Amino acid sequence: MVAQPAFHCTACGAAHAKWAGRCDECGAWNAITEDDAPGPGVPRGRVIALSDLGALPELPPQVPSGVAELDRVLGGGLVAGSAVLLGGDPGIGKSTLLLQAAARFARGGLATIYVTGEESAAQVQMRASRLNLGASPLRLAAETSLRDILATIEAEAPDLVVIDSIQTMWLDSLDSAPGSVTQVRAAAHELTTLAKRKGTAVILVGHVTKDGSIAGPRTVEHMVDTVLYFEGDPGHQFRILRAVKNRFGPSGEIGVFEMTGRGLVEVKNPSSLFLSERARRTPGAVVFAGVEGTRAVLCEIQALVAAAPSGQARRSVVGWDGGRLAMILAVLDARAGLGFAGMDVYLNVAGGLRIGEPAADLAVALALVSAQSGVALDPECVIFGEIGLSGALRPVAQTEIRLKEARKLGFTGAILPVRPQRARRRDADGDDTGDMALREFADLPAVVTALFGPDGQGSNRV
Ligand code: TYD
Ligand code: MG
Repeated sequence: MVAQPAFHCTACGAAHAKWAGRCDECGAWNAITEDDAPGPGVPRGRVIALSDLGALPELPPQVPSGVAELDRVLGGGLVAGSAVLLGGDPGIGKSTLLLQAAARFARGGLATIYVTGEESAAQVQMRASRLNLGASPLRLAAETSLRDILATIEAEAPDLVVIDSIQTMWLDSLDSAPGSVTQVRAAAHELTTLAKRKGTAVILVGHVTKDGSIAGPRTVEHMVDTVLYFEGDPGHQFRILRAVKNRFGPSGEIGVFEMTGRGLVEVKNPSSLFLSERARRTPGAVVFAGVEGTRAVLCEIQALVAAAPSGQARRSVVGWDGGRLAMILAVLDARAGLGFAGMDVYLNVAGGLRIGEPAADLAVALALVSAQSGVALDPECVIFGEIGLSGALRPVAQTEIRLKEARKLGFTGAILPVRPQRARRRDADGDDTGDMALREFADLPAVVTALFGPDGQGSNRV
C-alpha cells in the first residue's frame, strides 16, 4: 500500500490529500502544511506506571509566610514549584501585598526574587523602606523581557519568583503587543513550566477588572494551581484576599487586610470591622451572619425606601446582586403583600463588603420591610436564611458557625429558617448557641407578621 501524503489546514484542521495555497474548507491562505509522515522507525509509547487510588500520596510541603491571613487563603502556605495567580483591580494593593509577603518569605529563608515590570527598582525600594522591609534579603529586578527573566530563573534557581505583572511581560518571538492575550498566555505558560521544572514557586500578578475590561489573566487561570483575587472598595480601607481556585487547599477561603499608611495590616476579627459602623436601632438596618470560606463574617445590611419623586423608581445596590434584590422585592410583594412600586429602594452592605451568598436573602428582606415600615429591629439579633420564590425559607449551610460567631460577639438572638431536628437536639445538649434566643420560621410571611404585625407596618406586633 502506498502511504498517502497527508496535509492539514492549520487554521481549521481540515484534511487534504495534497497541498494547496488556499484551504477550500475555511478559505485560509497558506495554512495547509504537510504532516510529519510517521516512518517505520517511530518509537511506540512507553507503558505508564499506574497507581492505586487508595495509596496516600506524599503531600507537598507548604511553607508559611508568617502572614496568617495569606497563609490561610493559600491553604497553609506556599507549595514549592506551584504557580499562583493574584488578580485584582489596578491600585487595589496587589504590589503592596506581594512586596510584604515576598519580604516575609525571604526573611523566612526562601531565596526570593521580585520582578517588577511596572515600576523602577528605585520606586520599589522606596516603598520597601517605607514599609520597613529594607532589611529583608529579598532581591529585586525591574525587567519586562521574559527571555531574560527565564534565563535568570534558570541560573539562580530561586525558591520563589514574583512577577508583577504578567501584562507587562513580553516574549520577543511573538508579534503581538505586551498585555495582549497571546503574550499573557505565552508568558504564563513559559513561567509556570520552567517553575515546575526548577521547583520554583511563581506568583503572577494580573490586573483584572470586574467589568472584564482587562481580561488577559482570566485566560491563564487554568494554567496555575491557585487563583487568588484581591478585592475591596477603593473608598474603604479593608481588602479581601479570596481563593477562587486552590489545588492545595479549600477554595472560597478569605483573608482580610486593612490598607494603612504603613502597608497592609492583617485583620484578625473581620466581623468587628464590618460592624464598627453599626448604629443602634435604626429602621432599615439589620445584622447578617454570613460565612466566607470557613469563617463567619457578620456585617450590617442597610436599606432605605423613599417615595420616588417621579417616573421610574430606582433600585440601587452596593455589595449585593441587583437581580437578587429584584427577586426579593417580587417575593415580598407576591407572598407577603408588601409592594415597593413607586418607591426608590437603596440597599447597601456596610463597610464595602461584597456578599454572594443567598443566605443573605432574609436579612435583605427584613431590612427592606424595616425601612419601609419605619420599625427598627432588635440590634442584638442576627438574621440569615435563603428565600425561595414561594416565600419558603430554606435552611442554609454552616448554621452553627454563624450562630457561634454571633454569640461570641455578644448577640443575644437570631432569626433563621427552621432547622432540621438533629441540629436542635445538638443545641439542647448545650453547646455553641448557649442562651441565645433562636426564632425559627418556615416562611417569609410568618417572619414579617411576627416582627412587623399582620399588615407589615408595625401595627399589632406580636
Ligand atoms: P498597589 O499595591 O500599587 O496596587 P496594585 O499593585 O494592585 O495596582 O497599591 C496602590 C495603592 O495603595 C495606592 O493607592 C496607595 C495605597 N497604599 C497605601 O495606602 N499605603 C501603603 O503603605 C502603600 C504601599 C500603598
Ligand atoms: Mg502594582
